[in-house]
Amino acid sequence: EVTKDWNGADQIAIRSPRGASVRVCLHGGQVVSWRNDRGEELLFTSSKAIFKPPRATRGGIPICFPQFGNCGTLEQHGFARNKIWTIDEEAPPLNYGDNNNNKASVDLLLKPSEDDLKCWPHCFELRLRVSLSMDGDLSLISRVRNVNGKPFSFAFAYHTHLSVSDISEVRIEGLETLDYLDNLSQRERFTEQGDAITFESEVDRVYVGSPGVIAVLDHEKKRTFIVRKEGLPDIVVWNPWEKKSKTMADFGDDEYKQMLCVDAAAVERAITLKPGEEWTGKLELSAVPSTNCSDH
Ligand code: BG6
Repeated sequence: EVTKDWNGADQIAIRSPRGASVRVCLHGGQVVSWRNDRGEELLFTSSKAIFKPPRATRGGIPICFPQFGNCGTLEQHGFARNKIWTIDEEAPPLNYGDNNNNKASVDLLLKPSEDDLKCWPHCFELRLRVSLSMDGDLSLISRVRNVNGKPFSFAFAYHTHLSVSDISEVRIEGLETLDYLDNLSQRERFTEQGDAITFESEVDRVYVGSPGVIAVLDHEKKRTFIVRKEGLPDIVVWNPWEKKSKTMADFGDDEYKQMLCVDAAAVERAITLKPGEEWTGKLELSAVPSTNCSDH
């Protein structure tokens, strides 16, 4: 289903026969909504989100490429999230039941504009396949191809704004004992303790070399997000907390309580592609009921 979004750009919705759905905008290739089969929204979008192009809106899953954060010469998190993507005509949409598959997909494409080439002189093709399984699992597969005469390097992140009930009731399992770069102290390197990660102040960290599966447990909602990733070695964990929230124009003062960013990413080490080479980065998200009440 194709509709217009706030920017006049197309927005594509996939609905599973069981009632789950996902919506992705051609503006930014940004997933802006993901609902389970009970119609509950699983991604955070700010009530103060600014719908003014070319800026990405606050929430959902913006794509950070070819730069993460402000480490580089480009705008924060690179330009991909601020561009209008196209539907990739070379990859026809996949529907439930086609070849017995249990997913439906849509494929998007971003190629650099003349302006992009002025600030980042590398010819690339960035493809994004967004799929929703019959069970409501969301998967994002990105492929970056070097169609340049020379190698280039880039960073990448799925800047995933998860919707949570109360940040102080949330914990992340799977990042224990890892090293992280702390964006709050000039990317100084620290080592995480042995406990699951909980939240009581601002957090902005790049956990390096993280495992392929981590879990975000929302105790109050009795919901666990399972985050699976491939080709993306790092996990960025971000919550602006109270003080920083107040400085952000597109974020409500108290919304930090309902949001946690957990980004599958390649940040610490850039990915380098030789001419003709392609890189693939996958993110798979499931939201499952927490069964164990002693989970906390
Ligand atoms: C996080 C970064 O991923 O995104 C933070 O680690 C940053 O440093 C945050 O503040 C939000 O960035 P933006 O550009 O979407 O406001």
